[in-house]
Amino acid sequence: MKKLAIFVSLFLTVTLTAQPPADSKMKVFVAALMKKMTIDEKIGQLNLVTPGGAVTGSVVSTDVEAKIKKGEVGGLFGITGPDRIQQAQKLAVENSRLKIPLLFGLDVIHGHKTVFPIPIGLSCSWDMDLIERSARIAAIEGTADGLNWTFSPMVDIARDPRWGRVSEGSGEDPYLGSRIAEAMVKGYQGDDLSKDNTMLACVKHFALYGAAEGGRDYNTVDMSRVRMYNEYLPPYKAAVDAGVATVMSSFNVIDGIPATGNKWLLTDMLRKQWGFTGLVVSDYTSVNEMTNHGVGDLQKVSGLSLSAGLDMDMVGEGFLTTLKKSLTEGKVTQKAIEDACARVLEAKYKLGLFDDPYRYCNEERAKTQILSQAHRKAAREIAAKSFVLLKNENQILPLKKTGKIALVGPLADSRRNMLGTWSVAGDWQKSVTVIEGMKSVASGANILYAKGANISDDSIFAKKVNVFGVEIDIDKRSSEEMIREAVDIANQSEVIVAVMGEAADMTGEASSMADISLPESQKNLLRALAKTGKPIVLVLFNGRPMTLKWENENLSAILDVWFGGTESGNAIADVLFGDYSPSGKLSMSFPVHVGQIPVYHSQLNTGRPYAGEESSKFKSNYLDIPNEPLFPFGYGLSYTSFSYSDLKIDKVTLNTTGKIVASITVANNGKVAGQETVQLYIRDVVGSISRPMKELKRFAKVNLNAGESKTVDFEITVNDLKFYNSDLKLVAEPGDFKIFVGGNSRDVKESAFKFVQ
Ligand code: BGC
Repeated sequence: MKKLAIFVSLFLTVTLTAQPPADSKMKVFVAALMKKMTIDEKIGQLNLVTPGGAVTGSVVSTDVEAKIKKGEVGGLFGITGPDRIQQAQKLAVENSRLKIPLLFGLDVIHGHKTVFPIPIGLSCSWDMDLIERSARIAAIEGTADGLNWTFSPMVDIARDPRWGRVSEGSGEDPYLGSRIAEAMVKGYQGDDLSKDNTMLACVKHFALYGAAEGGRDYNTVDMSRVRMYNEYLPPYKAAVDAGVATVMSSFNVIDGIPATGNKWLLTDMLRKQWGFTGLVVSDYTSVNEMTNHGVGDLQKVSGLSLSAGLDMDMVGEGFLTTLKKSLTEGKVTQKAIEDACARVLEAKYKLGLFDDPYRYCNEERAKTQILSQAHRKAAREIAAKSFVLLKNENQILPLKKTGKIALVGPLADSRRNMLGTWSVAGDWQKSVTVIEGMKSVASGANILYAKGANISDDSIFAKKVNVFGVEIDIDKRSSEEMIREAVDIANQSEVIVAVMGEAADMTGEASSMADISLPESQKNLLRALAKTGKPIVLVLFNGRPMTLKWENENLSAILDVWFGGTESGNAIADVLFGDYSPSGKLSMSFPVHVGQIPVYHSQLNTGRPYAGEESSKFKSNYLDIPNEPLFPFGYGLSYTSFSYSDLKIDKVTLNTTGKIVASITVANNGKVAGQETVQLYIRDVVGSISRPMKELKRFAKVNLNAGESKTVDFEITVNDLKFYNSDLKLVAEPGDFKIFVGGNSRDVKESAFKFVQ
């Protein structure tokens, strides 16, 4: 058997080396093509435009059809449909001189037409297979709709919930964020980009965009290198290591230099240190915006960006209109243009577009695969697994499928808001509302409905949110009348289900908020309902962690459902009525108060740590609020309860080549089956730089029947102890380490070991 294996591997080596590797075939093909190209055609490949209609900023490009024919466009984004894409592709491959096919991109962020939970919700599943599956389905549908490139995953570490774009990422933790980045890349790209159901992924926004000051979008970022390397860069690097084909530069500055024109970032680190060989695209007009950053006019910033390592210019056409001039004036090199052009052509080659430019234009696939029953079924399951149960006093949940239930709140019957932000191709009319889901899952219950409140009563605010459609629908009735109606049905019912929170576009791009509590209109409704004395279950729609102190003190249960996508209503009903026991865990801490921000589990200890003493001056704390978040990272309840015991490590000393196995027993002490996410954190007690109080290093999901217990093992090696020191060297330093295991970052069992070199 062994002999055969050796023979087989020898044979493979021989046959493989007999032919040129795929990579060098691609290089030969691209070089030959480029020999035929004029400088204008080469620059044309670097131009990524929308065919009309603003997406997230102003539109610059006009007369796109003529430009495609002239070879002045490398890719289009913002159109879907095999027929429309075929038409556009035809312009390039039948009417341009060299017949070079176009790339077709879109923000396929959390599903395509079958929409899954927004990314922060998905991340709360802590389930990498599930997340990969969601991206796989998104790619199947996206490619069936003609696309070959998605601008996802967004992996920006984010610790400021005022920033609306926390909804698009995986929260605060670099380890969890990295695992998710890999899963998403695998899901979109599969194992072969030339298949007709895989697409180029694009990791974004490179880099550090999640640290925008004050949580205000497009704002300045300023950060130490140590923090950058240890906490913010790992997820981008993980995506690169997973083979992501493209990278998008971010809007912010890094050390004062806009990321889009930052050579240290795009060339020295990304290409030279990390070995990235794919394509780098700018964000939407981020080349042009460098002028506002104050680093030069359009010609200057376009030249800076190209020379820094940017290959494609999204929307702004700075490359198209200025690079030739810069070349003539000696401000950019021919080589820089050629390198960028080659990378665009290589992306097209990898997709197989030179073999068949229409490979993603298959009407039949579009008809059978998009929004299929199987995809909708997956969406329902995935949504249920993204919900996080934050409170469940007296086991009020799950609800009985009988009796009278008062269903209130502005999101209970709001089809418009189910998909969440960045569901560009999603059709909100195909989504299931909460009232529909509840009626279908619990047909034996008597569900009385009243809207009770507007999402917000502020018409100016509503106007700002309603740019893509009426998500905040201000009722003609007065708020008093609406509240009265809700209180009236509440009085007739055994339990109140209040479906409240944010409108879909209160988070996402350009949706920063200074106040992250429930809008006043909804708080008023809750206060009135609380006076009825009936138990209240808050079903919370949100794209960001919110401040929920009052709600936590006054309501019986809080189920955070984020924005669950197409199957939201069904999935919510599945969980409310106990067909699925919630298993989500927070990927981002929920602050007690907005003044705590940033609050996250991996904070440093400070020189004056505060241990919660009542009277102590000169400690690192607030006078008026606690230091701890309301709900910590990793937190989430279920309909059963889990206990942790017997944390053991098999050795007390770890060396450079060995491993330690930490094991813990997890028991399901409740009456129903459930799934728990067991989390392992470490603390490097003494380091050459101050190290976080806790760093997530492992997690595992376990399914436990009622009364069952299981032992979970985690292996730790020297790699898990490594960090970037002040010389930015990746090191593991000998000394004492603590190890913490539990069901969230706060409630943990503790042990210790020593690392020796
Ligand atoms: C966003 C990107 C997005 C791009 C294209 C930009 O405004 O920042 O995340 O991919 O638009 O839609």
